[in-house]
Amino acid sequence: MFEIVEKERIAPGVNRAVINAPAIARAHKPGQFIILRTHENGERIPLTVADKDAEKGTITLIWQEVGVTTYYMSTMNVGERLQDLCGPLGTPTHIEKFGTVVGVGGGIGVAPLYPITKGMREAGNHVISIVGARTEGLLILTEEMRKVSDEILISTDDGSFGIHGFVTQVLQGLIDKGTKIDLCVAIGPVPMMRAVVNVTRAANIPTVVSLNPIMVDGTGMCGACRVEVGGKTKFGCVDGPEFDGLQVDFDLLTKRLAMYKGPELIALNKFRESERGCQCKFPGGAA
Ligand code: FAD
Ligand code: FES
Ligand code: MG
Repeated sequence: MFEIVEKERIAPGVNRAVINAPAIARAHKPGQFIILRTHENGERIPLTVADKDAEKGTITLIWQEVGVTTYYMSTMNVGERLQDLCGPLGTPTHIEKFGTVVGVGGGIGVAPLYPITKGMREAGNHVISIVGARTEGLLILTEEMRKVSDEILISTDDGSFGIHGFVTQVLQGLIDKGTKIDLCVAIGPVPMMRAVVNVTRAANIPTVVSLNPIMVDGTGMCGACRVEVGGKTKFGCVDGPEFDGLQVDFDLLTKRLAMYKGPELIALNKFRESERGCQCKFPGGAA
């Protein structure tokens, strides 16, 4: 169980792995995630199920290297097993025929957006995808997104590929030319989701965002993933991860995500010196 059957680097610092997990592959619905531990002494981290193959009994995970556990995962090879994998967790995306759905994905956010886009298209929506990254090399899943979208617009912040600008500018462009948008789904870094919501709020477009608060148990018991939506406390793991973007308190989310920055950095520095850590290429540093 939980054996890595495929693994590849899809962009600098971003990896994709196919994992043998038949029960999760059968039960998973778009919008859901898993919580894993890489090894016995590892911590629990949530990752979205980016794709699944129920027949083969596999799920696909895509992760960006940001700290100890995601770097550790990058050192794991085909044939190695994850210690444990819990899921599918979270409330699935509400999918129905809305009309025109615009999906906005920034950076690693394109991975969770992909199964939702696929589901929205299968439900008969006209799907317009806006996929963006800082620079061309960091764009992920553009071909996969193209296959499940009616229209796709790709942008880079530095203009190295596609439209030169932020995903929010591309979205504003669609609105300005009179595209009737019935729903917007935005997934990416918190500042990006906040910026999308500022655009859609002004245009009165219902907007769903997928939040990434710190999670521990993933089942609504520990309270680590508390977020505030419409003035009420919600648990990201069971009430979400998707919420009405127009109601989210992004300031609180940003503060809570940075709560453990100090200990995370200490742990990463220790990991750099370990045997596994020596296999990683850390940005700006020696391997
Ligand atoms: P650390 O150095 O420990 O942490 C780096 C930052 O990641 C922290 O400052 C904090 O903001 C966040 N973080 C740390 N621990 C957790 C935790 N237990 N839960 C949530 N956030 C944490 N990332 C992807 O690359 N791909 C995905 O598909 C993906 N899906 C996610 C789905 C959900 C529902 C959530 C909540 C998060 C998702 N993330 C995803 C983010 C991912 O969980 C974090 O990047 C990861 O936990 C970082 O762990 P680390 O030890 O490598 O880094
Ligand atoms: Fe513990 Fe949500 S992660 S309550
Ligand atoms: Mg960590």
